[in-house]
Amino acid sequence: MAATDNQPDWDAIAEKFDMWLPHIAPAGEAMLQAIDIKSGDRVLDVASGTGEPALTLAARMGDAITVVGTDAAAGMVRAAQGKVAKSGMRNIQFKCMPAEALAFPDNHFDIVISRFGAMLFQDSAQGLKEMARVLKPGGQFALTVWYTAQTMPIMHWTYEAFKDKIPSAIHPPVAKMVSLGDDAVLGGMLRAAGFSEINISTRELKYSFASFDEFWDMLEASDILKVQLAALEATQHGVLRDEIRHFARDCVSHENFTVPHSYVLASGRK
Ligand SMILES: C[S@@+](CC[C@H](N)C(=O)[O-])C[C@H]1O[C@@H](n2cnc3c(N)ncnc32)[C@H](O)[C@@H]1O
Repeated sequence: MAATDNQPDWDAIAEKFDMWLPHIAPAGEAMLQAIDIKSGDRVLDVASGTGEPALTLAARMGDAITVVGTDAAAGMVRAAQGKVAKSGMRNIQFKCMPAEALAFPDNHFDIVISRFGAMLFQDSAQGLKEMARVLKPGGQFALTVWYTAQTMPIMHWTYEAFKDKIPSAIHPPVAKMVSLGDDAVLGGMLRAAGFSEINISTRELKYSFASFDEFWDMLEASDILKVQLAALEATQHGVLRDEIRHFARDCVSHENFTVPHSYVLASGRK
């Protein structure tokens, strides 16, 4: 499994990304529990996508804190900015910038967070270095990354189902998704970036759907695998769905379709 970087076109799928938010919300909660936020804090959320967990934190704390969210995909940032405009919140703003070049002064933020972003950076080591640079000495960080391919079943099944049907250059980027899942790799990179008092733990969350078909419809509608699906003949779509349904059989019950995922939570200080 090569670590190809054919991640989804985040810019193009921004409006549809929110379909996934309820499923990964528990990881955001775990991150927020790992940090101690106080009145007056300046918070940075890197690779915040359509705004999470920055928006949840800003809404929860109100004007007691200020929050900035950043993302490399302009479409994601626009979606997040749209939510701010709608809510009328004044303590949060979103800016388009890559994690590898954060346009903030050294030692600027009290807290830096990032949910399911760091493993996708073009240069994860550089992105983490930037996150540490803009954090005040003693400031806190929390981030999550995916753990292993096998414990990220939706991506794993799709990878397995697609891998013999489409060119390897457009295989689902599972290896990239789990590239920081090993705690020695992640811990080493965090230390090299300048973080300390590092805690790393493996956690679980569940993606829950009414049925396999509800899941499949959402997967297709979200465009997260748009490139891969477009590379198949229309007649192969049903074959692929049936193959994935077979991989997923242990997650199907009479009541619902529930898929456990493991992720890694890292937190600490600068
Ligand atoms: C899986 S989404 C997570 C979004 C959000 N944090 C959440 O949990 O809902 C990953 C995000 O990482 C962003 N991203 C990927 N590479 C990046 C980079 N080098 N710098 C900043 N953002 C990046 C993508 O644009 C995308 O919005």
